[in-house]
Amino acid sequence: MRMPVSLFIIAAFLASLAIHVFADTPANCTYEDIRGKWIFMIGNKGHDQTLNCSSFASPVMKLEITLYFPDLAIDQFGNTGFWTIIYNQGFEIVITGRKYFAFSKYKQDGNNITSVCDQTLPGWSHDIFDRNWACFIGQKTEELRPKQTVFSHKELRVESGRLYRQNDEFIHQINQQQKSWQATRYPQFEKMRIEDMIKMKGGRKSTIASIPKPAPVTPEVAIKAKRLPDNFDWRNYNDINYVSPVRNQGNCGSCYAFASLAMNEARIRVMTNNTLTPVFSPQDIVECSEYSQGCDGGFPYLISGKYAEDFGLVEEECNPYKGIDGKCSTKPSCQRHYSTKYQYVGGFYGACNEELMRINLVENGPMAVSFEVYDDFFHYKGGIYIHTGLRDKFNPFEITNHAVLLVGYGVEPSTGQKYWVVKNSWGETWGEMGFFRIRRGTDECSIESIAVQSEPVL
Ligand SMILES: *[C@@H]1O[C@H](CO)[C@@H](O)[C@H](O)[C@H]1NC(C)=O
Ligand SMILES: *[C@@H]1O[C@H](CO)[C@@H](O)[C@H](O)[C@H]1NC(C)=O
Ligand SMILES: *[C@@H]1O[C@H](CO)[C@@H](O)[C@H](O)[C@H]1NC(C)=O
Ligand SMILES: *[C@@H]1O[C@H](CO)[C@@H](O)[C@H](O)[C@H]1NC(C)=O
Repeated sequence: MRMPVSLFIIAAFLASLAIHVFADTPANCTYEDIRGKWIFMIGNKGHDQTLNCSSFASPVMKLEITLYFPDLAIDQFGNTGFWTIIYNQGFEIVITGRKYFAFSKYKQDGNNITSVCDQTLPGWSHDIFDRNWACFIGQKTEELRPKQTVFSHKELRVESGRLYRQNDEFIHQINQQQKSWQATRYPQFEKMRIEDMIKMKGGRKSTIASIPKPAPVTPEVAIKAKRLPDNFDWRNYNDINYVSPVRNQGNCGSCYAFASLAMNEARIRVMTNNTLTPVFSPQDIVECSEYSQGCDGGFPYLISGKYAEDFGLVEEECNPYKGIDGKCSTKPSCQRHYSTKYQYVGGFYGACNEELMRINLVENGPMAVSFEVYDDFFHYKGGIYIHTGLRDKFNPFEITNHAVLLVGYGVEPSTGQKYWVVKNSWGETWGEMGFFRIRRGTDECSIESIAVQSEPVL
């Protein structure tokens, strides 16, 4: 965490506000926008993963792919495959042995954002063994009206450069209103700017997507879930801890990188019975990944999954954490660690639910999850978090989507309340030794909607 806040930093921040207002990409494209028939204009194949698609403009072939509900893709020759959207940012298709991923197109003019959901930015295609790379651009055959979003939120005002102010009255209200969890004051936050706090909880979401409700539990899944233990925790499974140490992301919107890497770290520990215990480099993700936006956010699907499969992860010493954006400075000689079989739990965005998460957690290890962070969550000290609905008048944050690591679940003996156990990336002095518990079974803050899993390659 960067502590001293000099006038220089504030001045630099104000100067950069105009260009740094967005987390992730500002595109806000929904499932309904993306579903339908697409023409992909594809460039020369035969490249490796160093291919730079950012200014791609020379297609040599065309492919027609139609995306059907819920995850079926069919090309013009009748070949079938799978697809998923990734939050509101873009989509990925796997068909005829190739993958296609692109972000949705957007235009930005100051605070005016236009999402052009019937087109993609230049994207990446390669075979499922990561060979034979090509660039492509997608164009939907049905034209969509561009979606305009104008930002005039409180958080976009210059005020976000000021320091966070603890609100004791707010903390008191939280503790008065309910007994499920306890709120406390965190002196370390008083040294942070509002802007830093926003980054800490997931980055400024220009756009909150319409997050899908959890999918219905099928009878087969219900039967399987019934056989699982009532309480399970990878920090203490048969007296052994499989979860790597809690870290601190500081004032960089890199939660998605920490959550992603923490999953790969834990799953390697599970797979090898703690014989291998690498700790991976989030700075490599922040600086080097084109599948995410550095300290301005990103998504576990594209990091623990796609980046880890296409480019691999490096260990912390290859690029130690600085918590700021920069040029890619990872040592090229460092060994890369890969993952595979990445997907949203349930198979695609919108297919997740509590029971699938429990099954996957117990069978395969911890997984990256995301949830919506409200003002009250910053003050969490212990107990089972349930959003209170209270607002912090001093620091009225907008809702953001924060990525974290699911490590266990249980039932509180005295109340029968079901909960998840989750690892945060705000240091060990926050919450329950860096972890928190949150109500389970009710999709609290959408935590049961967008879990991601991947499998390390040893
Ligand atoms: C890709 O090319 C663009 C210009 O076309 C350049 O700005 C960018 O830095 C390049 N990216 C990489 C990773 O080399
Ligand atoms: C942004 O959009 C608003 C409302 O649509 C419009 O009045 C304004 O001129 C636009 N500003 C820019 C810079 O395009
Ligand atoms: C993004 O799209 C969703 C779904 O259409 C909508 O509910 C939400 O308000 C949009 N967000 C913004 C900031 O436009
Ligand atoms: C895993 O490691 C523990 C502690 O080092 C050991 O007691 C146990 O036998 C190991 N389990 C397997 C399956 O090798």
